[in-house]
Amino acid sequence: MSALEAELRAELGAMGEAGTLKRIPVLSSPQGPTVQIQGHGEVLCLCSNDYLGLANHPQVVAAGAEALARYGAGTASVRFICGKFVPHVELEHDLAAFAGTESALTYVSCWNANAAVLDALCDARTAVFSDRLNHASIIDGIRLARPAHKAVYEHADPDELRRALAAAPATERRLIVTDGVFSMEGDLAPMPELAAIAAEHDATLIVDDSHGLGVIGETGRGVLERFDLIGRGDVVLTGTLGKALGGAAGGFVAGGEGLCAVLEQRSRPQLYSNGLPPSVAASARRALTELRDNPALVGRLRRNTEAMRAAIAATGLEPLAGESAIVPIIVGETATAIRISARLLELGVYVTGFGYPVVPEGTARVRVQVSAALEPAQLERAAGALAQAAAELGLLGDPATR
Ligand SMILES: Cc1ncc(COP(=O)(O)O)c(C=O)c1O
Repeated sequence: MSALEAELRAELGAMGEAGTLKRIPVLSSPQGPTVQIQGHGEVLCLCSNDYLGLANHPQVVAAGAEALARYGAGTASVRFICGKFVPHVELEHDLAAFAGTESALTYVSCWNANAAVLDALCDARTAVFSDRLNHASIIDGIRLARPAHKAVYEHADPDELRRALAAAPATERRLIVTDGVFSMEGDLAPMPELAAIAAEHDATLIVDDSHGLGVIGETGRGVLERFDLIGRGDVVLTGTLGKALGGAAGGFVAGGEGLCAVLEQRSRPQLYSNGLPPSVAASARRALTELRDNPALVGRLRRNTEAMRAAIAATGLEPLAGESAIVPIIVGETATAIRISARLLELGVYVTGFGYPVVPEGTARVRVQVSAALEPAQLERAAGALAQAAAELGLLGDPATR
């Protein structure tokens, strides 16, 4: 065994002893309100991002299958070398209509979309202002993009952002970057304030609404819809197609025609990485159509989330407040979060525990994610299992004496 391999195995052993090693279940069914997990059988799933239950929707799957038959497995090259496919053009058209922007451009992931837009827009004239709890793809994207100036403001704190802008050197271009819905907290960015500050400072506001699309706003257009900001101000939207919008994979940037054209010309993931497989573009487009034609799905998700929050609160656990479909419950240590999720799986409920380094030390949590596809009885059962697991680990009093 090489010295490197031995060192890495020792690291894994130490994680195992500390109880922080993640054991990743193997699914043998599609994603959905229930999933088959090898060794556990059928369990309720409250940890996927399949917020609208579209990942296994018959028409979404059929659209992907038809495109697979028609266009083959994939693009076999990057777009500028070997062309884009009809499903890309159709999806990008529909994404722009959904986002209320002039244009949209797809990538194989939102990670790539964030990296692309930050890299393309950051130069020696650019200052970037980023929320402390932004997604890792934004944090890494800014690191790689190396803008002239960068400031990280306290989470969801407009006053801190104002101070950071006032303290920054005068640059020609300013970018304010935020998640729309924060993935580990489930809270929403203070969009009206951020939009106002961006306007005051002539800055572009970049919003990654991966967890808000399909979830937030009357028709699921995310935080920009929720705060009546669609089509207003200098806003660029990024998002994933791997969550509510079909659950397969892919990401996009939506904004001005010039922005998307420049990104297509020179953003690095466009130039050096294959385009989205046409089958994935087609299934995502069908998911978007489903959302457009059936916005009641968003209402159902909202009611399910409210019911789940209430059911959890009734057990004595205290989830973080918020209006997204992410309901985190802080439990402290990483090992505790992992033990709860392991126990939940034994109880037939799949909910994931998150610890360091995904969240700061001491703030490990179980993150319940709600789907429109879950039935009320399933939500009740999940809340009951959560209470049982928490009580067994001493996080709640004895259920009999509560
Ligand atoms: C806020 C946010 N942005 C970006 C991503 C990355 O999305 P993708 O899986 O499409 O790369 C995620 C996924 O976890 C996310 O939560």
